[in-house]
Amino acid sequence: MEWLKNSWRQKKAEQQPDWPEPAFLQRVCGELEALPPLVFAGEIRTLKSYLAQAQEGNAFLLQGGDCAEEFKNCTAPTIRETLKVILQMAVVLSFSGEKPVIKIGRIAGQYAKPRSSSIEKKSAIELPSYRGDIVNGADFTPEARLPDPNRLKEAYWRSASTLNLLRAFTKGGFADLHRVHAWNQDFIQKSTEGHRYEELAKAIEKALAFLKVIGIQDDHPEIHEVDFYTSHEALLLNYEEALTRKDTITGNWYDCSAHMLWIGDRTRQLDGAHIEFLRGVRNPIGMKIGPKHDLDEIKRIIERLNPNNEGGRITLITRFGADQVDRHLPPLAREITRSGFKVLWSCDPMHGNTYLSSSNYKSRKFTSIINEILRFFEVHRAEGTVPGGVHLELTGLDVTECTGGAQQIEDHHLENNYATNCDPRLNAQQALELAFLISDKLKG
Ligand code: PEP
Ligand code: CO
Repeated sequence: MEWLKNSWRQKKAEQQPDWPEPAFLQRVCGELEALPPLVFAGEIRTLKSYLAQAQEGNAFLLQGGDCAEEFKNCTAPTIRETLKVILQMAVVLSFSGEKPVIKIGRIAGQYAKPRSSSIEKKSAIELPSYRGDIVNGADFTPEARLPDPNRLKEAYWRSASTLNLLRAFTKGGFADLHRVHAWNQDFIQKSTEGHRYEELAKAIEKALAFLKVIGIQDDHPEIHEVDFYTSHEALLLNYEEALTRKDTITGNWYDCSAHMLWIGDRTRQLDGAHIEFLRGVRNPIGMKIGPKHDLDEIKRIIERLNPNNEGGRITLITRFGADQVDRHLPPLAREITRSGFKVLWSCDPMHGNTYLSSSNYKSRKFTSIINEILRFFEVHRAEGTVPGGVHLELTGLDVTECTGGAQQIEDHHLENNYATNCDPRLNAQQALELAFLISDKLKG
């Protein structure tokens, strides 16, 4: 079947909202089609070449951000704090772990969520589930939960505005390596991780000063700027189609809503609409793989998405849970290698480790997160494959959503600052702690 940017419409699309007025949706998508792309195809190609490097073990992928961005959090402080913690983690991973780090945010477009049920029930009332701010509102009222196509435009403008600030920060001096100290946040500074980070920041300053002393010019863009890429789950196919453009340089199609897109564990059916859409765009594609996967189907999906076995195209993001990673990862790694597929292996230690706390919050234990990551490294090393990245849900804010870590957050602390509408995120201190742990593994 010939690929068109709308050929996915011939297939079954899971997890799409029940839009009340299809004609209204089409009108909005027409408007989006006429608006400028959010990212440029050339940037997407550059990212793909970096990811190909990571597949060979010459770089490490750090992908992270909110489970779901919210419109109301599209503010300078929230964007800045998320960027800061990712920059801090990247410094730790590249300095202590001795690997270049590819930085990709779950940001500037991570607004759509798959749900386990399309209906939410409270007492006797049933309403459509909240599917992310790009579709409907989180409040449990019939008005808020009605899918509204205008939200697609709202998501576009907020993504553009977020991306604009990210570009300004990363290219305009905020991300300058001379400022590594300044990224440390007050509430972290006093902690063990904060101290460890300060030591590392001092070492970087010394190294920069030394380079200057021996006459190496400090005008390299690598010192003053950072490459930062965006990603989100390619879930809402009407939106993704509207942002898909033919690149004038190469004549190829790119989904210009973000640099990298991933397919969720719930929408990656071989003959489903999501795979059909993604096979035709040239972006790097992530694929989530949970415990319920079928190995044969995974192989056939990879063939369909990457028929020429190009490096950098496919990232397999495994999310088995700490207690199931040993059962599922070794056979998967072995079979993918045996088939000769070029893939980047990344670990999402979040989505297989969710539990309901005694205080009734959806949470994740820091120890389970660490254990899954440690096993990820060990299994890949044993199989001769490359543990090439991590995929995390995190925020730069001081939330209490995941338990454990050096702050020893317990179930009864979760209520102190549980701010997510969706999945629990690592707070800045937990994220930094994790970066140190991963950096020890990276070297090893
Ligand atoms: C997510 O990354 O937020 C998500 C829904 O993941 P998964 O598809 O792995 O469940
Ligand atoms: Co999530």
